[in-house]
Amino acid sequence: AQESATLTLQADKAEQIIPKEIYGQFAEHLGTCIYGGLWVGENSEIPNINGYRTDVFNALKELKVPVLRWPGGCFADEYHWMDGIGPKEKRPKMVNNNWGGTIEDNSFGTHEFLNLCEMLGCEPYISGNVGSGTVEELAKWVEYMTSEGDSPMARLRRQNGRDKAWKVKYLGVGNESWGCGGSMRPEYYADLYRRYSTYCRNYDSTRLFKIASGASDYDYNWTKVLMDRVGRGMHGLSLHYYTVTGWSGSKGSATQFDKGDYYWTLGKCREIEDVLKKHIAIMDEYDKQKHVALLLDEWGTWWDEEPGTVRGHLYQQNTLRDAFVASLSFDIFHKYTDRLKMANIAQIVNVLQSMILTKGKEMVLTPTYYVFKMYNVHQDATYIPLEGSCKIMNLEGERNQNRKLPLLSATASRDKSGKIHISMSNIDADQAQEVTINLSGTNAKKAVGEILTSSNLTDYNSFEKPDNVKLAPFKEVKVNKGVLKIKLPAKSIVTLELQ
Ligand code: AHR
Repeated sequence: AQESATLTLQADKAEQIIPKEIYGQFAEHLGTCIYGGLWVGENSEIPNINGYRTDVFNALKELKVPVLRWPGGCFADEYHWMDGIGPKEKRPKMVNNNWGGTIEDNSFGTHEFLNLCEMLGCEPYISGNVGSGTVEELAKWVEYMTSEGDSPMARLRRQNGRDKAWKVKYLGVGNESWGCGGSMRPEYYADLYRRYSTYCRNYDSTRLFKIASGASDYDYNWTKVLMDRVGRGMHGLSLHYYTVTGWSGSKGSATQFDKGDYYWTLGKCREIEDVLKKHIAIMDEYDKQKHVALLLDEWGTWWDEEPGTVRGHLYQQNTLRDAFVASLSFDIFHKYTDRLKMANIAQIVNVLQSMILTKGKEMVLTPTYYVFKMYNVHQDATYIPLEGSCKIMNLEGERNQNRKLPLLSATASRDKSGKIHISMSNIDADQAQEVTINLSGTNAKKAVGEILTSSNLTDYNSFEKPDNVKLAPFKEVKVNKGVLKIKLPAKSIVTLELQ
């Protein structure tokens, strides 16, 4: 191993809380995310709790999902919520135009979603239809979900079997309004946002957190126009950033790649830091006090669909490489939580960089799932900066745009009970790294933790080998007189608890 990184834990600079919503999820009516993934219906042979798959539900419970965005994505701007309430046999079917032309039978609707959020103990994040829906439709949806009184929509909800209003805080006013959500210009959307959001009322004790549809990665003008024309008229502005090779042609295989592809992926993933900084700088110009939150409500890897799966269903496998995209992203997100208040990986089950894959009755947890599990100690903990240096790789060649890739990524936090956790990723595909961390300001005597690694970067969990990549205890760490020394194996992710 090479002595390759020296860091100092800045315990005296711990101030900013990492909102748990940074670990948010996203579920769209897309492929088998909802049907087959989360929901199989009460009459299914697959074991279920009131229609929700028991295995998936239990796995998600362990993940402590803080917030779940639904029903899209692009689907949201063609979704008419009234089609998804009332007796199932009367619910109309529709064509899911965005995602493979699949027939949507609306058997999973508002009740099914909000009840799932209650069971998981997470905040719902409703993505409203602005592209093809009316102001009245969205206004009534808010009333249906949140009105406690004797209002028409509350009465309809009661007729459909739900007496009390649900707790709904997060409301997205459109999705990707520059694209699948209506192909709008930012100036026009800004006015539409103002109009639609006006009629999304705060019923009773509900205080909606209204989120404007935001930019795609490098579209800084979108953020500028929204900040200029809407500003504090929105509680949050969204942003989407995918680790993707491009939007035309092949996006590359999820499982067959070489080291060059691997390092390119991590370089592209880390570029989100620059993108976040630039959007935040624009927001700062208009809103120094940081009243308006930035929400990265779609992020993650986007590869070619698994061969043999339905076109348009975005079903992809998930390797150790994807796990690194998750850990590196969180390490970055933690640094910007004075503005970045939520992030929702795309997507929770069976779509893009998912936590879980299902096939019929079977289920596997992906390497990305394990990163979320290892990192959930950072939810609502206080961020502790880590300063220092490590080896840097210069990524060459046109596609890499001369990016520089630090071979170690790390983050730390102190939880509510005072425990300090440090997460580290050694992204070097071949070499172990000796890392030294100065822990002054703590009284740590030892550290214990967990590791995620595997023999090959391309390793994944299949239905035949579901435990190929999984967490294991990690003890190769020493703490002596306030200095922690750890030998991080090549291509490994570790989370330590100081004791
Ligand atoms: O997550 C898949 C799709 O990506 C979403 O529906 C859309 O918002 C984005 O383009």
